[in-house]
Amino acid sequence: MDRSPRPIIIDTDPGQDDAVALILALASPDELDVLGITTVAGNVPLPLTTRNALAIVELCQRSDVGVFAGCDRPMERPLVTAEHVHGPTGLDGSGLGHPTLEPSKTHAVDFIIAKIQEASPARPVTLCALGPLTNVATALQTAPDIAERIDEIVMMGGGFFEGGNITPAAEFNMYVDPQAAAVVFGSGVPLVLMPLDVTHQALTSPTRIKVFRDLQTQAGMSVAGMLNFSERFDINKYGGIGAPLHDPTVLAYLLDPQLFGGKTCNVEIETSSELTMGMTVVDWWKVTERPENCLVMNTIDDGGFFDLLIKGIGRIG
Ligand code: RIB
Ligand code: CA
Repeated sequence: MDRSPRPIIIDTDPGQDDAVALILALASPDELDVLGITTVAGNVPLPLTTRNALAIVELCQRSDVGVFAGCDRPMERPLVTAEHVHGPTGLDGSGLGHPTLEPSKTHAVDFIIAKIQEASPARPVTLCALGPLTNVATALQTAPDIAERIDEIVMMGGGFFEGGNITPAAEFNMYVDPQAAAVVFGSGVPLVLMPLDVTHQALTSPTRIKVFRDLQTQAGMSVAGMLNFSERFDINKYGGIGAPLHDPTVLAYLLDPQLFGGKTCNVEIETSSELTMGMTVVDWWKVTERPENCLVMNTIDDGGFFDLLIKGIGRIG
């Protein structure tokens, strides 16, 4: 059994929940070999998602991990951002200043292609997609040969019985770039999906946020500040005492897949109707003959998930 760290690339649009996912990944060097972080326009415009990724790399003292800026808009549709959720900087509440690190001069898409093509078949690259799929889809269209070399794409996005969060039908990552999502779901690459049906079970709470704050580290204080900031929107929207913690579920799956349950299904993306644009149409009850192209998760051990998060964040000073 190969116990060497799994090679991954994290494609992300930080965003507070992306930031927590990045910290978890960077705090797990024995399990995850983060080859690089690629940024995409999503929660906030590309310059800010790139700046925010650099700030998290600096917080984790992992300047060995490069940050590569990618696509600044979706493949076809105008960019939709989410400052109303994440604040004007996209990382409000973090308490982090402007990073001193600079992004690489290499474009994210070129980096993704190169890393996948140079990977040995014994250690294929896993893509972790935490934002709109523009970079990933562009890489697949630019270099179709990479589709059979990718180990799997583990992504946060979509929803089925839980519906949408940016429209009644669509979740934000899929809605921002539905054409890119259609490319990815039609690529034949092994896919794992963490939809809202899972992440809405992974709720923060004052008690859970206090545990992060009580770590008494800059990372713990930053995570607590970010979750406090971003949860205000979701508490107001959904009620309840906490907010769904979306993107860290992707990295938690890589670290401990037993925390999750689901099944392989067909997933197609709506790209025609404005009413349901970006909807993930999940054939959960297998009422069609469409190919099962995705492992769709629908359960999470949220206690185990937060324990994993706290252990990981606690490893960062
Ligand atoms: O719908 C939640 C997703 O959209 C998360 O990835 C969040 O960071 C935003 O990108
Ligand atoms: Ca995200």
